Amino acid sequence: MRGLILSGGRGTRLRPLTYTGAKQLVPVANKPILWYGIEAMVASGIRDIGIVISPETGDQVKQLTGDGTRFGAQISYILQAEPLGLAHAVRTARPFLGDEAFAMYLGDNLIQTGLEQLISRFEVSQPDALILLKRVPNPTAFGVAELDATGQVRRLVEKPKEPPSDLALVGVYLFSAFIHKAIDAIAPSARGELEITDAIQSLIASGQRVESLELAGWWLDTGKKDDLLEANRIILDEQVICTQSGEVDSESKISGRVCIGSGSKIIRSTIRGPVIIGTNCSVEDTYIGPYTSIGDRVILKKVDIDHSVVLEGANVSEAGRVVDSLIGQRAVVRSHQGVPVAHRFMLGDDSVVEL
Ligand code: TTP
Repeated sequence: MRGLILSGGRGTRLRPLTYTGAKQLVPVANKPILWYGIEAMVASGIRDIGIVISPETGDQVKQLTGDGTRFGAQISYILQAEPLGLAHAVRTARPFLGDEAFAMYLGDNLIQTGLEQLISRFEVSQPDALILLKRVPNPTAFGVAELDATGQVRRLVEKPKEPPSDLALVGVYLFSAFIHKAIDAIAPSARGELEITDAIQSLIASGQRVESLELAGWWLDTGKKDDLLEANRIILDEQVICTQSGEVDSESKISGRVCIGSGSKIIRSTIRGPVIIGTNCSVEDTYIGPYTSIGDRVILKKVDIDHSVVLEGANVSEAGRVVDSLIGQRAVVRSHQGVPVAHRFMLGDDSVVEL
């Protein structure tokens, strides 16, 4: 079985960050989101992985992720000239996929459990599609599946006004080569995209077997700031194993699970985990509260920050209280007077904010 990870797209919901970078490379607990999907594939035995990239951000994805050696996989990059839909991405990847079955993973999605159960079910049952579903409180915001009494998928609807169930489609799918015929049979939707839900619906219409599996653990689509912060919170809570190699002075207090990268210096500061701090950071007279990820080479001075993600090279100085924020690479936030109120930021790379 091959793996296909979709890392193209527009990323409009994460602007302004996605004006300068790929949303799939935004770090969660200091690791690019995309890498969690690659690691899940490799852990389930998939070694041949194709990554769909866009002309705008493809080079960054390639450069950071490499040829797969670091993951024990072989990665091929597939350029999709325009983001014309998930089914269009599959069509573009056809030469890579050949006639093999494949697992498709949306590069901005994270799921708690591995892919092993999904793959073994696919191998035993051999359907033409096996989709992963998750019960959600707000099905109108998702692609939703209607099942028959035996659990076979009867119908898929995109963002239905009157949802037939609360089972949303999670961004992980397994397909036989039959999906290519189904994609050839569909036309672009009203928003001008070749929809994977339409292709799956076309499989059902032509009598192919489409099965589903309900996901027990959490699923996060990190396409928006709050979802990304939630992913950061959960991963810091559940998955991060700490190494402390930075320097902490005697006036600082560290409690809970706190990872500090090499070359980082913590001076007169308090840090309450779970927190991850990258390499070569400077943290001075600062409070860092739970669920915060600080990238490499970040400077924090006289700030009180929690539940936030700060990207590489950012500088946040004398900025008062910062909460629920996503701060882009090399962004600068500074003030010359103490500011006692809380701030919530969504700052693109290279932003400058003076308070
Ligand atoms: P989406 O999040 O549905 O689309 P998008 O990236 O265009 O985002 P936004 O809604 O914020 O504008 O895409 C899911 C994943 O699939 C994401 O990792 C991007 C990728 N993708 C492609 O690779 N090619 C495509 O044509 C599309 C639409 C998405």
